[in-house]
Amino acid sequence: MTLRTSRTILAATAILALCTAPLRAEMADDELNINGDSPVVTKAPAADFLKGHLDEVYSGWLFRTDDTRAMEQDDFDNPVMVFGEQGMDNWNVVDGSEGKSCASCHGKIEEGMKGVRATMPKVNAKGELWSMEDYINDCRTNRMGAEAWGWDSGPMHNMTVAVSVQSRGMPVNVKIDGDAAPFWEKGKEMYYTRYGQLELSCASCHEENYGNYIRADHLSQGQTSGFPVYRLKTAGVVSIHNRFKGCIRDTRGETFKPGSPEFHNLELYVASRGTGLEIEGAGVRP
Ligand code: HEC
Ligand code: HEC
Repeated sequence: MTLRTSRTILAATAILALCTAPLRAEMADDELNINGDSPVVTKAPAADFLKGHLDEVYSGWLFRTDDTRAMEQDDFDNPVMVFGEQGMDNWNVVDGSEGKSCASCHGKIEEGMKGVRATMPKVNAKGELWSMEDYINDCRTNRMGAEAWGWDSGPMHNMTVAVSVQSRGMPVNVKIDGDAAPFWEKGKEMYYTRYGQLELSCASCHEENYGNYIRADHLSQGQTSGFPVYRLKTAGVVSIHNRFKGCIRDTRGETFKPGSPEFHNLELYVASRGTGLEIEGAGVRP
């Protein structure tokens, strides 16, 4: 064994196994009733394809502290709503050479975007797998004659929050068969691939070790039904692809870019693991 591999194994062991025994904690036994409304489902029986892997699926919200969970219970306390409101304002703003706003074609955001987040990502008319960000930029560049927004830019974050809120309480509803199947298969393969010097896959942390602590973090199942989320640590909105990037970086691996084909495939597979959960639109995380 080279020094390097033995170090790797040591590091991975230190991060996961050593934390396991003493540092396992129950998730919260709590209901997500945003603004006192009927509960958003955060706990559900797992989809059939997860048989042998998971019996139940849980939102990341259940693994957060009382204080962080409370922030998501009330839109006045949820910092993500400030960004969502800016997105709603922008919905009506004319931009680009065609003299159009989002509202010109989609009408009121509450009606035009209802349920949209729950179906993302999905295969478009050209047979490509698109996330919400791709649809928004397609409308901006090809329909409005406006500039594309960066995947993790302020206006894009604001708009994805505003659109996601319109699916709050609606079940995750991604298509994984037919033309979506090849993308889903690739995403699944990626989920079980070990990355980085620590040789950890998504499953190593989010399937085999959820409930355990890794350093100061209470590991969840890494579901995406709460996204986009506001992170207290960075005081800003985090997209699904950005979260994936951070997780792979934590394995000390070479990561992929937000918007890359790899992250599109992974987004579809991870979203499908959350089948049974409902869209939170939008969450708060440490
Ligand atoms: C000129 C009309 C037009 C404008 C302006 C427009 N869109 Fe669209 N948008 C469409 C059409 C048509 C589709 C359907 C495209 C498809 O299904 O391939 C669409 C699809 C979408 C989708 C995917 C919906 C779904 O159910 O799959 C989103 C999200 C979206 N638009 C957001 C926006 C946002 C945000 C803006 C403003 C920044 C905007 N659109 C501006 C016409 C428009
Ligand atoms: C070394 C362990 C580790 C690995 C490997 C890992 N993650 Fe994570 N991930 C974390 C930690 C820690 C958090 C923050 C606490 C939590 O929600 O689990 C997190 C959070 C997430 C979240 C946010 C969940 C929420 O509700 O806020 C998603 C989504 C996610 N991970 C997906 C992935 C995917 C996909 C992979 C594989 C590319 C992956 N993670 C690999 C440790 C890991």
